[in-house]
Amino acid sequence: MTDVGGNDKEARGQRTSCACLAPGRMRSPTTWRHHRDRDVTCATPRRPQRRAIQAAVRRPKPYSLSEGPAGLLCKPSSPIFQRMLSIDLKGKRAFIAGVADDGGFGFAIAKSLAEAGALVCVGTWPPALGIFQTLLRRGKMDASLALADGRKLDFERIVPLDAEYDVLQQAPTDVRENKRYKELGDFSIQGAADRLRTDFGEPCLDIVVHSLANGSEVSKDLLATSRKGYLGAVGVSAYSHVAMVQRLGPLVRPGGSFLSLSYMASERVFPGYGGGMSSAKAALESDTRVLAWEAGRKWGHRVNCISAGPFASRAASAIGAAPAEAGSPKPKPFIEQMIDYARANSPLPVALEAAEVGNAAAFLSSSLASGITGCVIYVDKGYHAMGKAVG
Ligand SMILES: NC(=O)c1ccc[n+]([C@@H]2O[C@H](COP(=O)([O-])OP(=O)(O)OC[C@H]3O[C@@H](n4cnc5c(N)ncnc54)[C@H](O)[C@@H]3O)[C@@H](O)[C@H]2O)c1
Repeated sequence: MTDVGGNDKEARGQRTSCACLAPGRMRSPTTWRHHRDRDVTCATPRRPQRRAIQAAVRRPKPYSLSEGPAGLLCKPSSPIFQRMLSIDLKGKRAFIAGVADDGGFGFAIAKSLAEAGALVCVGTWPPALGIFQTLLRRGKMDASLALADGRKLDFERIVPLDAEYDVLQQAPTDVRENKRYKELGDFSIQGAADRLRTDFGEPCLDIVVHSLANGSEVSKDLLATSRKGYLGAVGVSAYSHVAMVQRLGPLVRPGGSFLSLSYMASERVFPGYGGGMSSAKAALESDTRVLAWEAGRKWGHRVNCISAGPFASRAASAIGAAPAEAGSPKPKPFIEQMIDYARANSPLPVALEAAEVGNAAAFLSSSLASGITGCVIYVDKGYHAMGKAVG
């Protein structure tokens, strides 16, 4: 590379500069000829690249990797286009616990994993299982199940799962004899592991996702929460993840991935998210680190957690609203308040979409994230970074 004055600055370790960058000379045809003839390189994009950049700026759709500013500076023949990364989960099997409709993070994760080529089995809470199967059978979810390439997400197995119980013997008789449970066989976490082992052999999984939570006293302040409600929330929403890693770990092929879903109430105060649910999320995140260490050393598995922003799933919508104060109008449900607040105060001021959590989960579950374990990763439009409310 030669600079205009003929000094070989690069040879002296200095950045070369080109006089054609001087103000007023940018658009001169002689400038371009001078670049071509003398083989001068400078930071000024050449004319075709400038046109492409201007077109991209006008283009309303968001950047993709190949269209982004970095990609624009490369020719289509550039190796960057030939070595583009993609999430490839072909030949992998996932088990997602906590899918009972098409409106939550579990379903979105199932879709993203299937888009990337994985086979997907789900674990569904018995009280919601019948209606879920009926909706699937009647085609009511066909639009949600459609994948980008024309395929349809077809769950390989739908396994009954009540994450409150590690083994069937822990379920009380009234639960086992309840009409929604009694025909289902072993609906415990161990039962789910046994079904998968029987059907597919051992090892048979690559990806396990814990996408469930329940706290019967979630609408109560922590100060008003009973021991039973608190321990119930922690048991179903956090310990169940430990039990899943324990019991599904041996079924997962080396290098497999475990993932759970948390909420920022684990570390900051969100009035209205009570009943021990904030404690459960704090436990879930702490366990992520310890399980990453133990499962990494024992089996070579990775364990991560996504801390998602607020989203109006069925479970979140069920949290409801705090009771209205005398003379005041009824407040909005908790989740709507949180969505409005996050949208107003996040660096990206738009509501979070479930697919964004799904896509992050697909990445974390793939070999592209082979160096990531023990992490809690925010997928919240950047809200976690803020220290001051603006809206
Ligand atoms: N929606 C949000 O704003 C938000 C934000 C951050 C984290 N999360 C977390 O995401 C995960 C998924 O929740 P979602 O909001 O997508 O709602 P969702 O309704 O899609 O998922 C919750 C699932 O938990 C299942 N479930 C409840 N009790 C169970 C039990 N005992 N055994 C087995 N399954 C049980 C429900 O049937 C349901 O399918 C949860 O861990 C939740 O805390 C949600």
